[in-house]
Amino acid sequence: MSNKSLPFSSQEIERIAQEYGTPFHIYDEKAIRENVRRLQAAFAWNPGFKEYFAVKATPNPYILKILAEEGTGADCSSLPELILAEKAGLKGENIVFSSNDTPAAEFCKARDLGAIINLDDITHIDFLDREAGIPEMISFRYNPGPLREGNTIIGKPEDAKYGLTREQLFEAYAKVRSLGAKRLGIHTMVISNELDPEFFVETARMMFELAVELKEKLGIRIEIINLGGGIGIPYRLGQDPVNLEYVGKRIKQVYEQLLVPAGLDPLKVAMECGRMITGPYGYVVARVLHKKEIYKNYIGLDASMADLMRPGIYGAYHHITVVGKEQLIPDHQYDVTGGLCENNDKFAVDRILPKMDIGDLVVIHDTGAHGHAMGFNYNGKLRSKELLLKTDGRVEMIRRAETIEDYFATLDFDGLN
Ligand SMILES: Cc1ncc(COP(=O)(O)O)c(C=O)c1O
Repeated sequence: MSNKSLPFSSQEIERIAQEYGTPFHIYDEKAIRENVRRLQAAFAWNPGFKEYFAVKATPNPYILKILAEEGTGADCSSLPELILAEKAGLKGENIVFSSNDTPAAEFCKARDLGAIINLDDITHIDFLDREAGIPEMISFRYNPGPLREGNTIIGKPEDAKYGLTREQLFEAYAKVRSLGAKRLGIHTMVISNELDPEFFVETARMMFELAVELKEKLGIRIEIINLGGGIGIPYRLGQDPVNLEYVGKRIKQVYEQLLVPAGLDPLKVAMECGRMITGPYGYVVARVLHKKEIYKNYIGLDASMADLMRPGIYGAYHHITVVGKEQLIPDHQYDVTGGLCENNDKFAVDRILPKMDIGDLVVIHDTGAHGHAMGFNYNGKLRSKELLLKTDGRVEMIRRAETIEDYFATLDFDGLN
């Protein structure tokens, strides 16, 4: 069960905060490496298994390089993400390009890199053919519509804009083959932040059955089945992480039950998790700037929704530790806020915490994925820096904070004089 420990002592994080200044995101390299190894070990039975880290979760080339050293590829959804993967040393089929409503230039870059292109729509076949050419290896994103339920973060597949319907999928494979594609993949992503392991087993079953049907009906042999990301993390105390060993073992059983008898073994299983790889091993560290007592009690931090949007947009829970006050009784109720002119700029609402004071250092947990990445500049807020706690205990700045100059960099306006 999750107990929200920290990879640094109170003194260490205070020293880091003094040296670099708050607010910042900090990532724990050792824990990230160990975690990705756990996922790979769970699928070691499948020699072709590959995790393509979802770059959107933590789009920092230092993190991508660490993950690449562990053998992961990258799942990219835009031109800048493709370039990030390239800068981290990835190319060829170590990159999956899974984008929607895609501009031609992005397909061209994906083709240049030799990435596996995962098409989101049947009409993109002609678009890709015209703009960049059909590669030898191509994949399609499947949207099962009413056949699957989805969950609260991702919504119902039939309401989602992504992917091809079942009927379109059969047509699409026949078409790309006629245009010269020889190697084929299939992909789906129907769940997000899910802690129930059975969902992933069911997704695998759905995809394996589809691969068998594609073989029977079209005579094609799918080479890679990408099960997407969506493995959840225990944001709340007391939640259990997904048991990866169990998921790997059960998917192996379904593989043996469906794919082996159909003559589809060996077939590569892939995933593109983001959240579960880096999420629990990143933290926002901020300082209390102000205390305010009106109808409720507020603790104002020097971080804001520009640094971490999840609580504001989804009401997501992120655990908070007040550094140095871990042993005090949590007997005060606060809303912990940022400074945006938006009433949902709150990291926590009605949270019971120890008595807090101006100058306290606060650690917000589980911000390593979809954290800094979702930052934005509303209210002219500048995004914070990112630090890496390295395996030898040293700290390295892997992205500086934005400056006022960055904010004005896209404007060519000297002011009225
Ligand atoms: C296509 C695709 N793959 C992978 C991911 C990563 O999901 P997660 O970080 O929940 O594993 C996402 C998340 O939005 C996605 O859209």
